[in-house]
Order: sequence, then structure tokens, then C-alpha cells
Amino acid sequence: MSEFLTLTGGGTQLILSARIGDRPSIVHWGPEIAGSSPVELHTLSARTHAPGGPEVPITPSLLNPIGTGHPSPGILLHSAGKEWAADFRVEEIEDVSPSHKVIISRDTVSGLRAIHSFVVDTETGVLTAFTRLENPGPQAIAIESCAALCLPLDPRLTRLTGFTGRWAGEFQTETISRFAGSYLRENRAGRTSHDCYPGLYMGTDTAAERHGLAAAFHLGWSGNHRLRVDSGSDGKVSLQMGELLLPGEIILGQNDHYTTPDLFAAISADGYGDVTRRLHEYCRSNIRTGIARKRPRPVHFNTWEAVYFDHSPEKLLSLAQQAAEIGAERFVLDDGWFGARRSDRAGLGDWVVSADVYPDGLGRIANRVRELGMEFGLWFEPEMVNPDSDLYRAHPDWVLQADGAEPIASRHQLPLDLTRSDVFNYLAERITSIVNEYGVGYIKWDMNRDIHHPGDSQGRAAVHRQTNALYRLIGDIRAQCPDNLEIESCSSGGARADWEILRRTDRVWTSDNNDARARYSIMRGAAHFLPLSMLGNHVGPAKCHITGRRFEMHFRAGTAVLGHMGMELDLDQETPADREILAAAIAVHKQHRTLIHDGDYHRLETPSHISGAGAVSRNASEALFQIAVLDQHPTTHPPVVQFAGLDPDRCYRMECVWPEQLAGPASTFAGSALMQYGLQLPQCWPDTCLIYHLEAQT
Ligand code: GLA
Repeated sequence: MSEFLTLTGGGTQLILSARIGDRPSIVHWGPEIAGSSPVELHTLSARTHAPGGPEVPITPSLLNPIGTGHPSPGILLHSAGKEWAADFRVEEIEDVSPSHKVIISRDTVSGLRAIHSFVVDTETGVLTAFTRLENPGPQAIAIESCAALCLPLDPRLTRLTGFTGRWAGEFQTETISRFAGSYLRENRAGRTSHDCYPGLYMGTDTAAERHGLAAAFHLGWSGNHRLRVDSGSDGKVSLQMGELLLPGEIILGQNDHYTTPDLFAAISADGYGDVTRRLHEYCRSNIRTGIARKRPRPVHFNTWEAVYFDHSPEKLLSLAQQAAEIGAERFVLDDGWFGARRSDRAGLGDWVVSADVYPDGLGRIANRVRELGMEFGLWFEPEMVNPDSDLYRAHPDWVLQADGAEPIASRHQLPLDLTRSDVFNYLAERITSIVNEYGVGYIKWDMNRDIHHPGDSQGRAAVHRQTNALYRLIGDIRAQCPDNLEIESCSSGGARADWEILRRTDRVWTSDNNDARARYSIMRGAAHFLPLSMLGNHVGPAKCHITGRRFEMHFRAGTAVLGHMGMELDLDQETPADREILAAAIAVHKQHRTLIHDGDYHRLETPSHISGAGAVSRNASEALFQIAVLDQHPTTHPPVVQFAGLDPDRCYRMECVWPEQLAGPASTFAGSALMQYGLQLPQCWPDTCLIYHLEAQT
């Protein structure tokens, strides 16, 4: 077999060098270089001795262990403080298929085996890579860190966009220029986190939405993580993403193994927009669950901002009736239906229907919701307990804790230790029995605090095991419930929205912030990694509960059209006219949701006070764009906005479908004119959401 392994797909190429006995390495990852050979690229990459440096220049390998002289190791290991230098050499290669290769290497020092898996998706070119470590020897080996892969990058990728934020302000982007040294993001929240989303975009100095070399990286993991990009003094740039392991978390005894999370990477010569579309397509076909693919995403009514903890069956029945009338297809009963949960201070963990609030159980509501033609959904926060609960009183030892460290109060709750079988079995039993008893079709699975003290009952750090136990718990519950059960991943809004949780859940609650103006940057940020079909977007009350700002219904409702639409507001507080506007927006969403959810997503390049994005069907025969004016125009007249993704050679019938008062007669324009010349926006106030539908003429 040749020394080189080449994987190609979707115009992307990965060339690996894997000669038996040598260190494995990556020769090229990037857009396919037509007509080139791996040998040629390998020869072109050869470096000569640098004065003052090692005789033979240090070349990067797949994990860059300390023993190889690389300045930014992707793995740290030792055996009781010794054997901390490692040197992995290729032992075996598995040529699984043209798009899937496995390199098995062995550390000449500790004997540890590293199994590196690489798959390049044939459609989108998305690379999926992980490393599995196996200890065949009798000596215990502590793994302090192990990246999924150290991926050498094209040094022309000088711009770096990270994703940050907070509760009610998730998925904010921060773009910087790469600098000498390490760009490092570390997450110790015990969940995917609000402030450090495990994703990164990079591009050249001139890359933009539709041109230039651009790339994106994502780590599919819902626990702690570390992301870094190292710009070395030798001019090499490399990226690592992996789990952030706490002290002593992974110690491999004989025959034990550790597998890193998956690293996903996409690259394109056609700009950031193309990178996003590759990720969306990959996510829709490979990550999204089968259930979510099967049917249109139902419009939600969620009770949280309508009633909070003030549940009364009569009020909820009336809300259900009104929600169904305006077009809701799923009714989700949020927090407050169980135990003594009349506020966020008590009852969490007691998964029994509150007899005080629902003397007849939930059956009456669940059945009425179904009679009204909606699906019944229910909120759970399985991983947590209020100290003021029957569960905690009976089992104070069921929580995660760190010996000697004082618990940190956060939303009056503590994380349960899912690695314990009694905790795991209790949760699985309670949730499946409630789901099966009430015919629950949808779980809103919440997780509302960071885990500061993730120690198990033996005092060992347990985020890795806790995260895997969570995955298993969801799997067990799914196995014991009807096949069509859907699950939403919520974590104080969008703090758990990585691709690994989305392999087992169907939707993300993007943010608790339903402020229509704030929602644009949140949705736009999240859509860098997640398709719109997975991103919950709800219409909130006139006065936003998070920001106190007031918005007209046209703006609130139009905003929620682009996403997985829903609402969470007290419909009794809305005027009849506003309820009608909301019903009209839901109708627009339903009419176009296949396009919105399955079409190609395009961000428009606009001035910063305008947000523009939309979906174009695969064959470019139809498109829907949402253009929101978020502030006063700096000029007397609004700007011109160019559309994207259309066929320049076809003519499109363009119609403004939102807001209704601006909806004039449709006109027809060439795709080229709409994309190159652009549309002069109409005069309108700030906080206006315009939606245009375009249809190619035959
Ligand atoms: C979190 C969620 C909200 C809501 C509350 C209930 O904050 O993000 O949507 O479910 O919990 O307590």
C-alpha cells in the first residue's frame, strides 16, 4: 500500500501520510487540488533546516505528543508521573472505504495504541475525525488531554470567528485576526455552555460570504471542551479540538480505552456561506434524527412565558383552544406541573404530577390538546434536583459534589450524579412512565445550571462519564417510548446545542430571549452550525420579559417565521387584531416551511443595522428572504439589498409576503439583477421585518 491515503468528497480533499513505522501526518486538507499527486504535495511541503533549530525540522503529526518536539501537544499522558513523552508510529492501516480510512499507531514509550478515524463525506466534504486510545499493557496510563486530531491549517486562514454569549444572549460572534501564539477557548461548564460554543470559523483576509477560502470546525460534545488554534513561530498553524479533562478523569488500566468526541470540519474556496451550507446539509443528513426528518416541524405553543409557575387547568385549556385556533400544532406544558414546583425553589426531581394543581392528573389537558389537533409536549429537567424536594430529602447523596468544596448555589438546584445506576434508573422509570401514561409526544429536556463540582461518590471527577450517562439515558428513554417521541435540547436556552446531543434530540431551544430585535443575532449565530429546522424561534409577549422592550406583533411574528416557529405568550393579553396577525404569520410559515427548513441557507451581506437571511430551494426555483431593519437608517433612504443563491439566468416573480400592509403586487426580475443590482428597500420604521418570496418563472 502506498504511503499516502487520499479521501475526497464534495470537492474537499484529505491526504494522509501513513508509512508503517513513521509518524502519521496530514499532507493536505482543503479544497481538492485537481491534477496533483500526494507525492508532489509532500515534496512541495519539504522544509530545510532553520538556523538555530533542530537538524531535521519538526513536522506535525496527528497528535503532536511532547516527545516529538512539537510546541503545542494535542495529547498529554503519563504513567504515575513517568513516561510523559510519547511517540506514536504507524502500525497498521485500515482502508475501510474510499471515504473512510483508519490509521492505527502505537506509542513507542508507553505502548498505548491510537486509532485515528477519518471520514470525508462524499456530498459535502465534511471531515469527521476522532481518536480512540487503547491501553493493552498492565501499567495504568493517565490521559490529561487528547484532541480528536491536530489539524494543520492553511496559514492564509488569518481571520478567526469564535462563538460566545450568555444566558439570553447566545451564539454571538467575535471575529479577530489570528496572532502569534495560541487562541484558546476552554469550557468547564459541564454542559456545552452559553459562553463557549464548541465551534469556530476561519477565513482569509478577504474571504466573505460568497468568495474566498473559509473553513468551520465543530466539536460534537456536550461536556467540557478545549478549542485551540496555534500559530507557531515556524509559520505553521494548527487546530485542536477535544474534551477538556479534569484532573484524574481518565486513567486507562489494562484493556481500557478512551474515545475523543468527533471533530467536524468543513472547508470551501467559495466563502463562509458555502461552508455553512455544507455543515447544514451534513447535519440534516447525518446528525438529524430520523423522526425529525420525517415530517414538517410542528408549530409550537409553549406555556412558559404565558403562565410561568402559575398553572391552572382552566387557563391552560383556554390557551390550548386559542393556540389551536391560530395554528399551533404542538402544545408544550413547561415547568411547574409536578411535585411542589410552584417556583424554581422547590420540587425539582419529584417527577410526579402535582395533585394540588392537577387533581385529575394531566390526562384532561393532554386529551383536550389532542382533540384540538395538537401534540402534547411536556417539560422535564432530569439532571437536576432542588434541595427542597422529596427526592433530595430521601437521597442527599445522589448529587455530584467535590470533596471539601462548598456547593455553589445556582437557580436553587444541584446536579444529580447520572453515573449512579440508582439515579439513572429512577429518572428512566419516572420519565418513561409519565410519557407512556399521558401519550406525551415531545419532551422539552432542560438543564439549567453549570456543573461546578462534578465529583462522583468516590470523589473522582466525572464530567466525561456524566455526559456519556446523559446520552445513554436519552437512548434508554427513547427505546422505552413510542418511536415518534421527539426531544428538544434546552439548557437555560441554548447552552446545549452541539451535534452530539443533536444525534439524539430533535430541536434546540435557541434562547430564552424572545426579544425580536435581539433574536436576529442569536439565530444568525446559531445558524452557522445548525439548520433552521432545528432552531426554535418563538413569538413572545409585546413587552419582552427579558429586555423590557416592546415590539409590534408584525415584527415579533415575522421574526419567528425563519426557524422552527412557535410562540410563548399569554394569548389573552394580546388584542384580537394581534392574534389575527400572529395567525397570519403562522400561515406564512406553514406555507413556506419546507423551503425554510430544507432549502439552502444564505446570509445576505447588509449594513450592520439590517439583518438579511433566507432559504433557496435546491434547484433555485424558489426562495424566501427575511430582511429586518433593526435601527434607523444612517441615510435619508433605506439601502439596497442584494439577494443571493438565485439562478442569474432565470426570472423571478418577487412578492413581499410580510408585513401584510407592504404586500403589493408581485413583480418579475432577472435573478442576476436581484443578486448584482439589488432591491431598494421600502421606507419603513426600525423594527420592521420584511419577508420576500421569489418564484422562478418557467
Ligand atoms: C429554562 C428554559 C426556559 C424554561 C425554564 C423553566 O430557563 O430555557 O425555556 O423552560 O427553564 O424553568
